[in-house]
Amino acid sequence: MAMDAFSASLMKDKREIVIAPTIYKFDTFGAFAEEFKLGERDVVLTNEFIYKPFMEELGLKSKFVFQEKFGAGEPSEAMIETMYEAIPYDSYDRVIAVGGGAIMDLCKLLGCKRPTSVHELYFKREPVVHEKEVIAIPTTCGTGSEVTNISVAIVKDEKDGKLTGGDTKLGLVSDDIIPNKVCLVPDLLKTLPYKPFAASAIDALIHATESFLSPHRKTVTSEMFSVKAMEMILEGFRRIALEGPDARMDYLGEFVHASLFAGIAFLKAGCATVHGMSFPLGGTYHVPHGESNYALFGKILEMYDEYEPAGELGKFKEIVARCLGCTKEDALRTLNVTLEKVLHLKPLHEYGFKEEDVKAFALSVDANQQRLITNSYRPWSIELSERVYKECF
Ligand SMILES: NC(=O)c1ccc[n+]([C@@H]2O[C@H](COP(=O)([O-])OP(=O)(O)OC[C@H]3O[C@@H](n4cnc5c(N)ncnc54)[C@H](O)[C@@H]3O)[C@@H](O)[C@H]2O)c1
Ligand SMILES: [Fe+2]
Repeated sequence: MAMDAFSASLMKDKREIVIAPTIYKFDTFGAFAEEFKLGERDVVLTNEFIYKPFMEELGLKSKFVFQEKFGAGEPSEAMIETMYEAIPYDSYDRVIAVGGGAIMDLCKLLGCKRPTSVHELYFKREPVVHEKEVIAIPTTCGTGSEVTNISVAIVKDEKDGKLTGGDTKLGLVSDDIIPNKVCLVPDLLKTLPYKPFAASAIDALIHATESFLSPHRKTVTSEMFSVKAMEMILEGFRRIALEGPDARMDYLGEFVHASLFAGIAFLKAGCATVHGMSFPLGGTYHVPHGESNYALFGKILEMYDEYEPAGELGKFKEIVARCLGCTKEDALRTLNVTLEKVLHLKPLHEYGFKEEDVKAFALSVDANQQRLITNSYRPWSIELSERVYKECF
């Protein structure tokens, strides 16, 4: 498929790096609340299980809203509509996101003028107009959403302007939705259970990897952020593989910084095929974002290796080898073994994926995910997508 206009505009972007928000760091949520003078005109979107241990005792006057009120899981058209109803646009001046990627993505929308329809907004038939300050505080490690210009949602799928009856995931992309400020509070990650921790950290590793391998859009500066993120995450994974899940507790600060660095890297260099191919999987079977990426990551790297084992992939293998203490030749295998110790890799059928999805998802990726697929390390095709889905079945 020829490159779409949006991807072409990304390729023409001559900026070396984009770090739009001011980045802060605090020891506790209370220290953040004091510095930013949280008050009545602030809406804080979070989860009740984050509010209770970290915020309740502070007795703040802000409006606290819990994401779970709008439905479980990742943002969807219906969830966003319910959120809009629950939080009237004129009831706040500032938006504070305290949560994982889902909450940060929702808050990006709260910072913007309300569209007449969420569906039209995601299919780019309504403009994004940013009006209110957004402060992002990530509590997973993580999507990097705190520094990116994307808000992802599960939306009703379209083909040639008509609803297909199915769902897919789409990224709403605009520099106007990059949060204005980011506050890192590693303390908030202490309550994050192991499984979402592991899935989100693998997601961050994939952001760094896809940015590092991005053939057209990476820059010297984005590479620096991807390499640092990969080194920090791989070191954390090496410790977990050796000592078990609790090894993460002394390393949460590094993880939360690494996911921020990976977010900075991919905002410029772009995510790629792993993300593009995981979107229909996540959208249809509600597989958590990090897990759906992980399900495809190893196979896609293997196919990159088959196409061009030297070049940037060769450098990637050198980094992995250095961090995990193996040879370059054994890097991809050692990476898979290490990741398996961090999180068990499941075949796609265990998520509900069916044989007929192989073709249907490959076509959906080709039709809807070109902004990601154009960053593939090797020229991509519907046939290659089919092969990946089939071999991960
Ligand atoms: N905008 C972007 O740039 C971007 C990039 C990648 C992914 N995403 C989106 O981000 C979402 C995935 O984000 P995620 O991986 O952070 O998962 P998530 O936001 O769904 O959080 C994972 C789970 O952990 C829980 N949780 C989070 N922090 C916690 C804490 N401190 N203590 C206890 N529980 C906690 C959440 O409630 C949730 O159940 C997806 O919707 C994905 O599409 C966005
Ligand atoms: Fe991601």
